[in-house]
Amino acid sequence: MSILPSQRHLFDIPDDVAYLNLAYQGPLLNASVSAIADGAQCKAQPWTTAPKDFFSYPEKLRELLGRVCGVHADRFAIVPSASYGLATAAKVLGPKLEKGDQILMVAETFPSTYLTWKRVADETGAEIVMVDAPGDDDWTSAILNAMTPATRLLSLPQCHWANGAVINVEDVADAAHKQGAYLVFDLTQTLTAMPFDFARVKPDFVATAGYKWMLFPYGLGSLYVDPKWHDAAPLEETWMNREEAHVFEKLADYSHVYQPGARRFDLGEKSMPTLVYGGISALEQILDWGVENITETLSSYTMRIANVLEEVGLVPVTERFRSTNILGARSKTRLPEDLVPNLTAQNIFISRRGNSLRFSPYLHNSEEDFVRLEAGLKEALSRS
Ligand SMILES: Cc1ncc(COP(=O)(O)O)c(C=O)c1O
Repeated sequence: MSILPSQRHLFDIPDDVAYLNLAYQGPLLNASVSAIADGAQCKAQPWTTAPKDFFSYPEKLRELLGRVCGVHADRFAIVPSASYGLATAAKVLGPKLEKGDQILMVAETFPSTYLTWKRVADETGAEIVMVDAPGDDDWTSAILNAMTPATRLLSLPQCHWANGAVINVEDVADAAHKQGAYLVFDLTQTLTAMPFDFARVKPDFVATAGYKWMLFPYGLGSLYVDPKWHDAAPLEETWMNREEAHVFEKLADYSHVYQPGARRFDLGEKSMPTLVYGGISALEQILDWGVENITETLSSYTMRIANVLEEVGLVPVTERFRSTNILGARSKTRLPEDLVPNLTAQNIFISRRGNSLRFSPYLHNSEEDFVRLEAGLKEALSRS
């Protein structure tokens, strides 16, 4: 594991911009911008794309997803969003729930998770249990304490999107598997920015929007599906996910056999040349950096930011429960209303939620950004 030097040269981020808001949107790599443009060019001149590329590019994306995540590529489906992945999980697992069953999630869970299971709860009579936010940031204990014999499904992130407080997914998985509960994750805020051991956790489904930490273009994500669900019905019946789809002359023979693995869950028109090309170049770069090195580097950045926050009197998430990549901090006094607009005016980009601030750095950041953040925060807070 090593700390990577600033990778700013790979992004289109001017020197005077301190962008610390990956939890909102990741920046595209320059390589992805070029790849997307190449994809658009293919569509401008359709005769330049060989029919086989319709299938080979999504397969390349799938293969890279498998390599980056350390699992067989067959377990990944290509989806447009976290909500699509979660809807797939709900279509498969929803009918297995019944009145009296509990679906457990964290308080203020992201709406894509809550709304998906709310519909399942309404349709089945299952009950949604939201685990209260723990005062000491220890979500793992809070989740384990909230589980009951009626907990049939847990739909969780690896860290809370609002402040990065982490969940020990292995401990939670052990408890879930012990009582045969289904385990669904939304890793939008952590996949590739923090290790996730698929073989150890054994999730049923893992949905991820790719446009933040995976540096994908907006509109492209991934869905991990455990092999025990590879025979389940997908959301859509696209022709592209059937055997022999590439034999265009035989399309009207209507194949009744799905392609193997999780491919049946791929979205229709999965060959989007722009998005898929952009996603491939992002994953190639992530593979080159290495998830462990990304993790190590981002941890050093969040630690660096935590020191600044403590200096200016903010209270970051308890060190033991911090994720590597997102750091929330609350203020003991009322934060100035114009704090974030003031920072934005200085080209320093962070997020605010209520009386808390959220910082989410990435590999493009440099020491200069942290120095500017410190000065900007001190100045903005001194106005209150
Ligand atoms: C935890 C989490 N999940 C999912 C999303 C995005 O969801 P979707 O891909 O359904 O738009 C976000 C966006 O902020 C998020 O923070």
